[in-house]
Amino acid sequence: MTSYSELGLVNTKELFKKAINGGYAIPAYNFNNMEQMQAIIQACVETKSPVILQVSAGARKYANQNILKNMARGAVEYAHELGYDIPIVLHLDHGDSFDLCKDCIETGFSSVMIDGSHFSYEENIALTRKVCEFAHSQKDYVTVEGELGVLAGVEDDVSSEHSHYTQPDEVVDFVNKTKVDSLAISIGTSHGRAKFTPEQCTRDANGVLIPPPLRFDILEEIEKKIPGFPIVLHGASSVPIEYVQMIEKYGGKLTDSVGIPEDQLRKAAKSAVCKINVDSDGRLAMTAQIRKLLVEKPDEFDPRKILSPARDELKKLYAYKNKNVLGSAGQA
Ligand code: G3H
Ligand code: 13P
Ligand code: ZN
Repeated sequence: MTSYSELGLVNTKELFKKAINGGYAIPAYNFNNMEQMQAIIQACVETKSPVILQVSAGARKYANQNILKNMARGAVEYAHELGYDIPIVLHLDHGDSFDLCKDCIETGFSSVMIDGSHFSYEENIALTRKVCEFAHSQKDYVTVEGELGVLAGVEDDVSSEHSHYTQPDEVVDFVNKTKVDSLAISIGTSHGRAKFTPEQCTRDANGVLIPPPLRFDILEEIEKKIPGFPIVLHGASSVPIEYVQMIEKYGGKLTDSVGIPEDQLRKAAKSAVCKINVDSDGRLAMTAQIRKLLVEKPDEFDPRKILSPARDELKKLYAYKNKNVLGSAGQA
């Protein structure tokens, strides 16, 4: 049993309170390996931003849970070594069972998501409440994120072709019955690099897909029902066209990629949305640089030389997001 305070981590409670009052969102960046962790910490220390290090079930399978836990401890020490102690949360992304959440809580996570959004409303409540009871009874209070509404897109264990927007009429009942600390909602975002079908979009003069706007009307309704309650936005990558074009220039194929425009995320961050999840943009940034390097330097075979530009690009991207999109820079 490891308690997260032993690792130097914090839960989301205070961070979300400050984010809502300050009109910004905390970045939740997924990581699976050392280079991603280094880039996230470098970017967040440089911009003095709090950060949520996010681990999916797939990341646990890929990297090993003990290694990830110790990388989070390393992240705390790395930030210190870089000269600024930012608040760091270790969060389970899309937990799909009580046992997985319990395991994470007992091994040092300071926050978990229980994603019961694919179950019936009643089952979602029962499962989320069970996780909250366990998480909140720990010596160090572990925060819990629940989800109402379904996002389209594919994740490791959860996939859905169509999204179902969150119903504002359900949120008060859900929050009261489960005692969740934050709520992920569905207002049009989705996971992955192709967030809308071409049919859902229009095209600009260059043929670039322009997505339909997020459903801010639903977000406003939800905010009225649960004023000041922390809201989470999943599937919030912007899918920068520059990365898509670079990947395609160097041999990749990413047909019909489209993300959430930055101005809409900025607007969301100023509302009760206080956690914004980004994974796909990081994957695109790294892949673009890796492809470029391998094409331009066909004789290179040192993984450090191949991964260094990718890590630098990731750091640049996340620093940019903290400053210009989420507004979290300077808030640590
Ligand atoms: O929302 C899902 C995240 O992008 C994690 O993806 O399950 O492939 O690690 P993953
Ligand atoms: P993206 O696929 O838009 O990066 O979303 C990531 C996410 O929601 C992780 O939970
Ligand atoms: Zn997600």
